[in-house]
Amino acid sequence: MAQRPYIVGNWKMHGNRAMVAEARAIDRAAERLIKVEVALAPPATLIQAIRKEASLIGVGAQDCHAAESGAHTGGISAAMVKDAGAGFVIVGHSERRSHHRESDAEVRAKAQSALSVGLAVIVCVGESEEQRDAGNAEAVVAAQLEASLPRGEHVMERVTVAYEPIWAIGTGRTPTVEDVASMHRAIRAQLLAVYGPGAEAVRILYGGSVKADNAAELLAADEVGGALVGGASLTAESFVGIVVAAA
Ligand code: G3P
Repeated sequence: MAQRPYIVGNWKMHGNRAMVAEARAIDRAAERLIKVEVALAPPATLIQAIRKEASLIGVGAQDCHAAESGAHTGGISAAMVKDAGAGFVIVGHSERRSHHRESDAEVRAKAQSALSVGLAVIVCVGESEEQRDAGNAEAVVAAQLEASLPRGEHVMERVTVAYEPIWAIGTGRTPTVEDVASMHRAIRAQLLAVYGPGAEAVRILYGGSVKADNAAELLAADEVGGALVGGASLTAESFVGIVVAAA
């Protein structure tokens, strides 16, 4: 990997103020492990507290509304998460795509909105088990990318892609290293076609049941620039194990 590996913890709907201590411990470890770029995406309620307590790691949001402001009860805009201290937003996670019926167009609108206020974005894509079994994994991911990647000048400098096969999320199952590599190569080719030669630098993360004991192997796969970690990011102990494996 040319760049520092990027290891991002997605806390999903877990965490309270007591868990800020875990973020602090992760931040302390990041200070020792400077070969790795580390970030956390806690629930929006904790962004500000974690940003205050953890100065080295990146802090981001798990989602944002596509609109700037307005009558959207419960919505949180990109500008709001930025104001709370976020530096990036995850968009298009499969849990948002399936539980909240988010379309590719909506994912792209959220990404554009985040970029417009100066945030970076992590755009998630990934196929279901049925789609993989049918031999359609690469086509599904290509279609998601085509319709949900943000467009515009200099956009790619703030875009990261996360490939998360839905069937690997929270299941303890992972694709083979060769399957990960071949999907990541296909994503790289598409990024180059969309953004041009500069897209060599866009990081492509793998997500889905990454743990300390499989991280090194998955991170060594071709075109894998880091990991998006769910369950194993919830304690400093397990998350730092992955960061150590990436170093
Ligand atoms: O966004 C990270 C995620 O979906 C992967 O979750 O628990 O399988 O690491 P997990």
